[in-house]
Amino acid sequence: MIKKGIILAGGAGTRMSPITKAVNKQLLPIYDKPLIFYPLSVLMLAGIRDILIIVNKGQLNQFKKILPNGHNLGIKISYAEQHYPRGLPDAFLVGKKFIGKENVALILGDNFFYGQSLTKRLQECIKLKSGASVLLHPVKKPSLYGIAKINKKNKIIKIIEKPKKYFSNLAITGLYFFDNKVIDYSKKLKPSKRKELEIVDLLNKYKKNKKLSANFISRGGAWLDTGSIEDFYNTSSFVSALENRQGLKIACLEEIAFNNNWIGKKNIENAIKFYGKCEYSQYLLTISKKD
Ligand code: TTP
Repeated sequence: MIKKGIILAGGAGTRMSPITKAVNKQLLPIYDKPLIFYPLSVLMLAGIRDILIIVNKGQLNQFKKILPNGHNLGIKISYAEQHYPRGLPDAFLVGKKFIGKENVALILGDNFFYGQSLTKRLQECIKLKSGASVLLHPVKKPSLYGIAKINKKNKIIKIIEKPKKYFSNLAITGLYFFDNKVIDYSKKLKPSKRKELEIVDLLNKYKKNKKLSANFISRGGAWLDTGSIEDFYNTSSFVSALENRQGLKIACLEEIAFNNNWIGKKNIENAIKFYGKCEYSQYLLTISKKD
């Protein structure tokens, strides 16, 4: 059972410069809330309550203003700084102490997941005992993503980063589940040509031992990456369209915590005071009035 999760929320944000020059991407708004709320909501939906957020050096205080320690969400949030964007597997070196002897989930701070059976899928994924598992999602342009091919037993048999030639349309999304070997494997990784530790190299270590399995976000679900300006605004429009049609919010952290019975109405009232007079608080008010 995985009880710990890491959100990798640093990064250079090069593709979104100049917007990201002064502000970290994960603190920018996806429609009505900061981007970081979305990956955090995914870990919470999975049932993970012990969370490490990795941020860029010098940006800790900005994050703590919006997500201090998790207490009001019934979870524990701790922080660590990454000195420079050394690659995704660096999360397991920066987070070594936090992970200890346990298994761990990793979500990229700029990944967005939404879908009907998402919570059920996530709860299956955290049952991982050994090995690693990734979530796959079909994409139209495989040449832009890390792509995996699977066998009949849902074991991954081939992974290629941004393949030039088609071999599968299943992209590896930014949510991963690992056993404790991930720390040792990450230590042994060598930086690639672009001077980063590569997640594909890490996954290949599990694949070599036939320990890399796949889970799926089917066509009823959405996986969006908010790395480019275009994707960022498309995700924002997606959230706006859904929320305004349904009157239900995506990634309202207090609502998830309340539904999980991690917090009570008093915490919702505290959150309303914290956020002040805004539409998000209005929504929280409707939750606090539920029977
Ligand atoms: P990327 O998309 O690889 O990079 P980025 O967000 O820095 O943007 P760009 O490519 O435009 O420079 O990162 C995916 C997520 O992981 C993103 O939320 C930032 C985070 N990240 C880190 O926190 N540390 C790292 O070392 C890397 C590579 C990424």
